[in-house]
Amino acid sequence: MADTVLSNFTPGIEAKEIDTSRILKVGIIGTGWIAESHIESYLQMPDVKIVAAADLIDGKAEKFMKRYGVEGVHFYHDHKELIDNEPDLDAVSVCTYNTQHAAPAIYALEHGVNVLLEKPFTVTLDEAVEVMRAEKKSGKLLSIGFQPRGDENMKMIKKIVESGALGDIYYIQTGGGRRRGIPNSTFIEKSTAGIGALGDIGCYSLDMVLNAIGYPKPLTVTGYTSNFFGTNPMYQYADAQHTAEENAKRFNVDDFAAAFIRLEGGIVLDFRIAWAMHVDTPGDTILFGKKGALRIPSTECWNGTVGGEMTLYTDVAGAQVETKIPIIKSDDDVFSGLFYKKIRSFLDAIKEGKPAPVPSSQILYNQAIIDGICKSAELGREIEIKIPEI
Ligand SMILES: NC(=O)c1ccc[n+]([C@@H]2O[C@H](COP(=O)([O-])OP(=O)(O)OC[C@H]3O[C@@H](n4cnc5c(N)ncnc54)[C@H](O)[C@@H]3O)[C@@H](O)[C@H]2O)c1
Repeated sequence: MADTVLSNFTPGIEAKEIDTSRILKVGIIGTGWIAESHIESYLQMPDVKIVAAADLIDGKAEKFMKRYGVEGVHFYHDHKELIDNEPDLDAVSVCTYNTQHAAPAIYALEHGVNVLLEKPFTVTLDEAVEVMRAEKKSGKLLSIGFQPRGDENMKMIKKIVESGALGDIYYIQTGGGRRRGIPNSTFIEKSTAGIGALGDIGCYSLDMVLNAIGYPKPLTVTGYTSNFFGTNPMYQYADAQHTAEENAKRFNVDDFAAAFIRLEGGIVLDFRIAWAMHVDTPGDTILFGKKGALRIPSTECWNGTVGGEMTLYTDVAGAQVETKIPIIKSDDDVFSGLFYKKIRSFLDAIKEGKPAPVPSSQILYNQAIIDGICKSAELGREIEIKIPEI
């Protein structure tokens, strides 16, 4: 499985040469599926020494490092044990399930360790605020793991918005879906995942458009969530540990969410996300501007990337014009893939004293929307999004 993980992500452009005069000591907290793409990237970096790993499941971290042939690693049960016993750590990758994002991130920051935290930021807005308070107090770096940010096509969306070609944006529809795409393992239970499709793939759709328009503050949200598919054995499947019926019983997070969100600056965001549904896509992402509009095709199995050629709709001297924005292809090399870039940009920021590549100050608004959707769905009405002072 190991060598297939990085290939799931669209690769990017070549990495720059690495300065090895400072070796960074890195720990990995949580050695599950996504930790594979972290270690595969770290192992390509000559300025990284993996010194520690932790996992709640006995022997899992040891097996993980053995699989990659990494020696001299200290093993621990959980994040606290790891941080307490490794005073010289420069950074940790927090690769734990969602309900265990906040605690390891806070503990690491409180102990002066830089943190690369997997997405989604957290489960709740309050947790994200607590992590940011620890970040602020520590003065250390916290970057959130949104690797699609490194995709040249994603960057193009932002460039188009910033070029002024769309004029003022007033309405955005975004989201994505999978006809059948419910994950299993720790993703489907509240105790580990906290949230379902919203946290797994919804956060990517939100980041795609919010990053492009400069992350305006969310003000209000009307949210809806459901889980008609995940809880139905007909749409579930068996895995190594559970039958389809058991997985349907375990399932208690959202598999579909939709929302209408008002953002600062008078922009409205219309959002939907699905792990499963009876249609191929819940729609392309479209940014409606006063001067032009941009259509970003959805991918069939939504994974937060640009699904094909984008179209820019404008009006030139009274004529309706459509401009195709071709997909920017990059080579297939894992060394220069999106995961590599995500991790490299985090380490470079540590070494060069630069800001976090994906700062918490932006993703706080992403999390506030997700949190707002859950709360509004529970109450059955629109709510005001209140973000506490950090
Ligand atoms: N960036 C991406 O593209 C991407 C893709 C998949 C998953 N993820 C994110 O990565 C995270 C993990 O996903 P996964 O598929 O690897 O899950 P997983 O369940 O396979 O692995 C998580 C591991 O963390 C361990 N763990 C939990 N709390 C811990 C703690 N406090 N200390 C030590 N170990 C702990 C668990 O025992 C488990 O082995 C999720 O938040 C998910 O959203 C990101």
